[in-house]
Amino acid sequence: MTKDVIDAIKERTSIRRFKPDPVPEATIGRLLDAARLAPSAGNMQPWFFVVVMNEDLRRQLAKAARQPFIAEAPVCIVVCAEPERSASRYGQRGRELYCIQDTAAAIENILLAATGYGLGACWVGAFDEEEAARILELEPGLRPVALIPIGYPDQERKAVPRRPLEEVVRVIN
Ligand SMILES: Cc1cc2nc3c(=O)[nH]c(=O)nc-3n(C[C@H](O)[C@H](O)[C@H](O)COP(=O)(O)O)c2cc1C
Repeated sequence: MTKDVIDAIKERTSIRRFKPDPVPEATIGRLLDAARLAPSAGNMQPWFFVVVMNEDLRRQLAKAARQPFIAEAPVCIVVCAEPERSASRYGQRGRELYCIQDTAAAIENILLAATGYGLGACWVGAFDEEEAARILELEPGLRPVALIPIGYPDQERKAVPRRPLEEVVRVIN
């Protein structure tokens, strides 16, 4: 039974401890499908997803991020942007902004879908991009923008505080 989207938004927290249990391939497929359904500027879909199950590669990616917990998840989805696909229609704005926004939307869909399927995940943005591209033998046009380690959580979900709405919202009537 999957959760309502609002429940998933409220329940999702970053998970950094994982059980070693494998994630069913069908579930990974559903996460990728959720990613692919994200909105993108002009529906250009300037993304590519590399699903890393191989343990040695997961360890190498964890090293490229200097974040060992990444290797403990049985799966790591590497979300890549294809800047030139967006640039072909939108020029510099596509290259620098839209492809990043589009992949961010896909990443959030993966995180929410993972929550819906009882999985834990973390959006990892701090890593050596060149090193990750080398490890995955990415085509030159692909820019890895996030690593998402995914597995069954081996920790309680702990919500970290958010800034109050009054501080981050202005209503103009
Ligand atoms: C662009 C971006 C980059 C992030 N990079 C990392 C990272 O490298 N390592 C990590 O452990 N968490 C990373 N996070 C997760 C954030 O730390 C986390 O979302 C934030 O602290 C809020 O906590 P929550 O996800 O549990 O709500 C990143 C999140 C975003 C959106």
